[in-house]
Amino acid sequence: MEQYTTFKQRLLTLTHLTAALGVLSWDQEVMMPPKGAGKRAETIAELAGLLHERFLHLNDDALLDTLKSALTKGELDDRQEAVVREIARIYDREQKLSKEFVQNLALVTSEATETWKTAKEKSDFSMFSPHLKKIVTLKREEAQLIGFTDTPYDALLDAYEPDMKTAEVSTILNDVKQFLIPFLKKIQDSPNTARPELLAGSFPVEKQKAFSEMVAKTLGYDLDAGRIDVSAHPFSTSFSPLDSRITTRYDKTDISYALFSTMHEVGHALYEQGLNPEEFGTPLGEYISLGIHESQSRMYENQIGKSLEFWTFMYPKLQKAFPKPFASIDINDYYRAINHVTPSLIRTESDEVTYNLHIIIRFEIERNLIEGKIEVEDLPKIWNQKYKEYLGIDVPNDAQGVLQDIHWAHGSFGYFPTYSLGNLYCAQFFAAAKKAIPELEEELKKGDTSRLLAWLRLHIHSHGKYYTASQIVQNVTGEPLTSQHFKDYIQNKFSKIYDNTL
Ligand code: CO
Repeated sequence: MEQYTTFKQRLLTLTHLTAALGVLSWDQEVMMPPKGAGKRAETIAELAGLLHERFLHLNDDALLDTLKSALTKGELDDRQEAVVREIARIYDREQKLSKEFVQNLALVTSEATETWKTAKEKSDFSMFSPHLKKIVTLKREEAQLIGFTDTPYDALLDAYEPDMKTAEVSTILNDVKQFLIPFLKKIQDSPNTARPELLAGSFPVEKQKAFSEMVAKTLGYDLDAGRIDVSAHPFSTSFSPLDSRITTRYDKTDISYALFSTMHEVGHALYEQGLNPEEFGTPLGEYISLGIHESQSRMYENQIGKSLEFWTFMYPKLQKAFPKPFASIDINDYYRAINHVTPSLIRTESDEVTYNLHIIIRFEIERNLIEGKIEVEDLPKIWNQKYKEYLGIDVPNDAQGVLQDIHWAHGSFGYFPTYSLGNLYCAQFFAAAKKAIPELEEELKKGDTSRLLAWLRLHIHSHGKYYTASQIVQNVTGEPLTSQHFKDYIQNKFSKIYDNTL
């Protein structure tokens, strides 16, 4: 179909523009000298505006409309259908937001982000509060413009986890919460004391770098189609399956930070490297959703990276590279230490058991905020109450409390739950992988993740957006998303560690 070819050409141009923007953003975080910040922000804003405009030109000569009606009439093949359906969905969203609205939101959030940095440094929520109020007003407006049937939060969640509704997230996360709170209590009451202080030492950055790179390669990360750099906050970014990069950060007194953030970001990058390069430029060459993306990173960070099996292979190497402190630490003690559970203030530093409670707190707060049930002024109080209620800890200040994350300053409401969904997808996928590959645990003990990666590539990565998140979960695991696999995984793993039955 001739129109489809033209359409694909237009999409390809957009993808190239997006990749160019991605390189600029990567450079901003990794390479740019500090004085470059101001002009770089302008360059990025200008290009982002161009991209938005170009995107709306997709329908010039009613091209998208034509393809949509071809879709309805059944004139497209199934791959074309997936492409048109996905682009029509995003187009529909973008079109409902005027250029003025988009620009205003960009302006308000970039000012807010600057203020947020200072407010966090000074631990002063009242500084940030007027900016956040503006953002919340705009996000409530955005939800109205986009439209919803159940709750305005649906309209925002849809930007990050299409195909998922607030009610479903709410039900599943409530269930996780009901499990986690008493389970955490049990762990805290257990006589076992994992000793995270064992992990402290002195780790030269160059040696950490070499070790992290070796781990990344062992996990299958192709460094000819990627690279590892340093940034303040680790992230991954991809310009094509053949150039998918990650960053990390090295703490001289603790190699764990670099190790586990590298494994996390490698999981993200493996997904990107596994997308089909032939589909570059269409949704069939793109990841499904943030939740599915996070499922891959968490699998490499936790199910593999914090497993006794993987460390059976890797620990002797760690001991050899860093005899101090590891030569004198038994592998079981090391394993307990890296899986140490303790309620803490900071989400990004939390363990597998408490992590989702951090997310659930944010989800409950932002949902109520968007629905107008609470207001910005109430946030520190509600935040602190929930930390006390769910995690049993007192929040000493806003910097370590409500101001810790950048997401709200960015206007990213609806983003947080995708982290927890990622953990649930992950546990469910991994349970299916273990069934499909009965020797998986034995393979991990040899540091061999190749069959697992091939399985993920075949069943998840290579499809791009051909399937939706719920379809892929059903296809890969034979059932819809459930919290059961996550609960089983946590229960099994941490009962062994904390009942001393390892
Ligand atoms: Co991630």
